[in-house]
Amino acid sequence: MQNSKIAGIGFYVPERVVTNKELEELMDTTDEWIRERTGIEERRYAKKHEETTATMGVEAAKIAIERAGITAQDIDFIIFATLSPDYYFPGSGVILQREMGMENVGALDVRYQCTGFIYALSVADQFVKSGMYKNVLVVGAEFHSCGLDFTKRGRNVSVIFGDGAGAAVLQPTQEEGKGILTTHLHSDGKFAEELAYYNPGCHGGKFLKDDKKPHFGEEPEFGGLFMTKEMVEHGEIYPTMNGRYVFKHAVEKFPAVIKEACAATGYKVDDIDMLIPHQANLRISQLVQLNLGIENERVYNNIQKYGNTTAASIPIALCEAWEKGLIKEGDLVCLAAFGSGFTWASALIRW
Ligand code: UT7
Repeated sequence: MQNSKIAGIGFYVPERVVTNKELEELMDTTDEWIRERTGIEERRYAKKHEETTATMGVEAAKIAIERAGITAQDIDFIIFATLSPDYYFPGSGVILQREMGMENVGALDVRYQCTGFIYALSVADQFVKSGMYKNVLVVGAEFHSCGLDFTKRGRNVSVIFGDGAGAAVLQPTQEEGKGILTTHLHSDGKFAEELAYYNPGCHGGKFLKDDKKPHFGEEPEFGGLFMTKEMVEHGEIYPTMNGRYVFKHAVEKFPAVIKEACAATGYKVDDIDMLIPHQANLRISQLVQLNLGIENERVYNNIQKYGNTTAASIPIALCEAWEKGLIKEGDLVCLAAFGSGFTWASALIRW
């Protein structure tokens, strides 16, 4: 069976740089705290009313498509990973399809947060391998800053996230041993509530402990669950995260899923030329690196500049590393991610 390869890759980050110092003006935090705990120095925020998750995805996609040597009309399937879509529905994939003037190709939104890009890549890989599609566009994009809690209550979450987009075009390759060699996807819904955006939703508080149950106000017999003014008044419309818990699981699952990809292909961790970890927290990446015994030159981190851009973080980092010449033809590249769900995933690519 043929493999799929990344034929073109691109990324886009908004112009506006937001430093830790600027966040100090908005909420009770410090540059020192953010740098020490996360490694983040600055992030980008999209331009409200002008940019959206889909439009950022479009900018990244244009570059990836051009580098793949094709046009938007050649794309025969779109997979769009995001946790911050333009609308609750329809997905951002169809907005991108419209804005890029593509034919009536299928568009699938993937909602697996930090592991979204690898999940999307894995699905795209199956479509290409099976021969069903020849040019699949995979996008990861986030507009976090549109809905963060910029008060003390939300500071553990708000300081880590940034906006941006990355994209890749997958095509078949007949070259033996080239392209995407293996992908590994995992989830454990036991931890779904540890890192989540509960409201709006239809859960009605069912899975939440008493102190996390949202305020519904006076309820009619039907309706009145999804989004209420009481939720807004009580600040229950923001992401919530048990940071330490997430951290602890992340530093276990990252190495495990990287080793799993190596074991499946007969490679050793030492064979990896470049590891691109999801940019969750620089301290997580450093602990993973230490655990696996990988030198600095074989890991790429850019969370310092962009913060955690969730589904966009891997394609942004991959593209930036490639643009800097740190990934060359024939290199063994490993992508790995962990995040909300919990979900974790890896991919091994012969570039
Ligand atoms: O990509 C998705 C997956 N997400 C992750 O991988 C995130 C994993 N977790 C983390 O990266 C870390 O848990 C955080 C960076 C989010 C938080 O760091 P932490 O060392 O776990 O801090 P904490 O939440 O346990 O809070 C420690 C202290 C608390 O104060 P007290 O109770 O000790 O007085 C917090 O209120 O730090 C305080 N704090 C802050 N102080 C200044 C929390 N956020 C901030 C802040 N600025 N932004």
